[in-house]
Amino acid sequence: MRFPDDVPTLTTGVVTLRAHTAADIQPAYEVCQDAEMQRWTTIPVPYEWQHAEQYLTELVPAGWRAGNSWAWAIEYDGRYAGTIDLRPQDGNIGEVGFAVAPWARGNGVMTGALRLAVGYAFEQGWDRVVWRAYVGNWGSRRVAWKCGFRNLVAIPAGGVQRGVRRDEWVASVAREEALEPQGNWWRVPVIETDTVRLRALRSTDSKRVAEACADGRTQEWLAGLPNPYQLDDAEGFIDSRWENLASGEGVSWAIADPDTDDLLGCVSVFDLKNRIDATMGEIGYWAHPDARGRGVMSAAVRAVIGHAFTPVQEGGLGRRRLVLFAAEGNRASQRVAEVNGFTRTGRERAATPGREGVFRDQHTFDLLITDSRA
Ligand SMILES: CC(C)(COP(=O)(O)OP(=O)(O)OC[C@H]1O[C@@H](n2cnc3c(N)ncnc32)[C@H](O)[C@@H]1OP(=O)(O)O)[C@@H](O)C(=O)NCCC(=O)NCCS
Repeated sequence: MRFPDDVPTLTTGVVTLRAHTAADIQPAYEVCQDAEMQRWTTIPVPYEWQHAEQYLTELVPAGWRAGNSWAWAIEYDGRYAGTIDLRPQDGNIGEVGFAVAPWARGNGVMTGALRLAVGYAFEQGWDRVVWRAYVGNWGSRRVAWKCGFRNLVAIPAGGVQRGVRRDEWVASVAREEALEPQGNWWRVPVIETDTVRLRALRSTDSKRVAEACADGRTQEWLAGLPNPYQLDDAEGFIDSRWENLASGEGVSWAIADPDTDDLLGCVSVFDLKNRIDATMGEIGYWAHPDARGRGVMSAAVRAVIGHAFTPVQEGGLGRRRLVLFAAEGNRASQRVAEVNGFTRTGRERAATPGREGVFRDQHTFDLLITDSRA
């Protein structure tokens, strides 16, 4: 191909992909000073003017001429807003890479640009487009998810950045697949009640989470928790909530004091991708010791039930049936289920592990969307 004459211009009407020009050097250089750019891509650090100049005047044209890299400038709001590139590989497959200027983020620019580039790749005969990102790049993962990339896997040390191996996510989309999100990526809405505020967990909650989960009663009834439970465990739990949401597996809220915002406990709805029944969900919870005995969990669970039974199109979890389990002897937890209208459906024998190799019976509860108290 001749550069720039043969570079196709593609547009959604809002976002346009076009050949780079020398006028892009300055804004591209500026974009590459951004900390997020440096954190999540393989650009040189420090990033010098010469890097931008060489990339745009030598490497990009050479890529088009040789046919081994097709890089476009992304134009948005009348300005250069970033770069996206396709790198064909043998066998009608290839990879995509992208970055957008900080000022243009959060406007759907990359989602639009990625759909254009992927559509072009398929027109050129590709069977599959592969996306890769370092683990933790949630913005990039969400863009890929929005454009239909699927079957995501994490490969430990699968990527390399400036000579250092990093964990990597890989996902892809095939020619015959829709460029639409696969599965749910849940949000954590703030839910205010008279007595509690439900909100996303954040890193500043880690100390309270650790206190709550190291507590003797929590340890007794939730035998799956690490023991001893340390600050690291709490930080890991809070971090892992992102994956829980993005994979569609579940939603966890911090139950917070409406006045101080301090964490009082945690409530989750999980197993949302249950293979047999994807319309069910399980409710689980624990309270900080200093928040127990005053109705905090009953109120939190009531709020979560409302959200769980709200249709997905209205921002809820679209559940039809909720289940809840509480061990024999855990009266407080059974009470939370009862006051929220759950029906006691039975008792599973020796079903839940306790500490020191003991297995306790477990009381089972359920709540259907058709129940009058739901
Ligand atoms: C990742 C990046 C390309 C996103 O570009 P963008 O134009 O902001 O993307 P869009 O506006 O099309 O979509 C972003 C979506 O991700 C979400 N998002 C953005 N940052 C996020 C974050 N840190 N965590 C979770 N979601 C995030 C946005 O809310 C939006 O979703 P929504 O429209 O449903 O609300 C941009 O942040 C970037 O250039 N980062 C640095 C370079 C980089 O990481 N490149 C990819 C390397 S694999």
